[in-house]
Amino acid sequence: MSGNGKLNMVGLCGSLRAGSFNHALLRALPDLAPERMAIAEAPPIGTIPLYNADVQNQSGFPAEVMALAEAIRAADGVIIASPEYNYSVPGVLKNVLDWVSRVKDQPFRAKPVCLQSVSGGQLGGARMQYHLRQIMVFLGADVFTTPEVFVGGAQQKFDAETLALTDEGTRDFVTRQLKAFADYVDRVSG
Ligand code: FNR
Repeated sequence: MSGNGKLNMVGLCGSLRAGSFNHALLRALPDLAPERMAIAEAPPIGTIPLYNADVQNQSGFPAEVMALAEAIRAADGVIIASPEYNYSVPGVLKNVLDWVSRVKDQPFRAKPVCLQSVSGGQLGGARMQYHLRQIMVFLGADVFTTPEVFVGGAQQKFDAETLALTDEGTRDFVTRQLKAFADYVDRVSG
């Protein structure tokens, strides 16, 4: 908890698409979060190069990677909303996690992390989330378990023009997850 007396979360999106449903979900979160939780978007990740250990050794970490690592370090928790690509974690997100994982005192260690996914399909990105959980094991993150948020049939859940999250059932479920995540952060951060 920092100066504002709230649990400060950083929201990271696994899609770079302008019309991303996952990004739209992240934008909806501040409205659905408990009063004591603040959610800020992570610094932009769209220009982070593909991970290359030679680049890291010769030039150090890209500024965007360090900015993201700092944002994660400073936050009380991380909320990741990501699509599922080919039954797994999108390369964009995996690449970012690979970079951040090499930063000294890597910031995901013991960091509470909450997962969400939106997809056009029925399973709502579930397969991606279980692969992401496995990655988070190596990073030593404290990944929140239930309730899980898998938003399937994305086109029916968001307004076609504004991308506002309009589906009441989804709004209720996400609200419940964020409340439970806040309680979890209190517990594990002691
Ligand atoms: C997809 N999509 C998809 N959906 C799914 O449920 N399971 C999958 O394995 C995949 N695989 C996949 C691969 C690739 C390369 C693309 C581009 C898309 C569809 C995906 O869920 C849909 O495009 C989402 O809308 C993407 O999320 P954003 O960009 O809207 O946040």
